[in-house]
Amino acid sequence: MLSRLREIEQPISFTFDGVQMQAERGDMLATALLAAGVDYVRRSVVSDAPRAPYCLMGVCFECLVTVDGVQNRQACLVEVEEGMTVLSQQGASHPMASLDGGEGRQP
Ligand code: FES
Repeated sequence: MLSRLREIEQPISFTFDGVQMQAERGDMLATALLAAGVDYVRRSVVSDAPRAPYCLMGVCFECLVTVDGVQNRQACLVEVEEGMTVLSQQGASHPMASLDGGEGRQP
């Protein structure tokens, strides 16, 4: 888990999946989420595995979130704004979900 080196000096508020969070003015969204202790921001559309920001520079696409109703925004390339509403993205249910009790995971 990442943590901030300094206390937030110019706080701005946003929500992630309905949870109120604070960021430093100028933070990129992925940074703010990781610093707030968020473990993952989306689930794989193929395996349903949790995914989290990885490269933090717009290359890996592991940080996709929905920002103010717009899907597939790269959190590492979006600056946090006051009142922003951010939602995690959940992958499609696994095609095997109905056969293995609902989890959709292979052994
Ligand atoms: S963390 Fe890799 S594209 Fe955002």
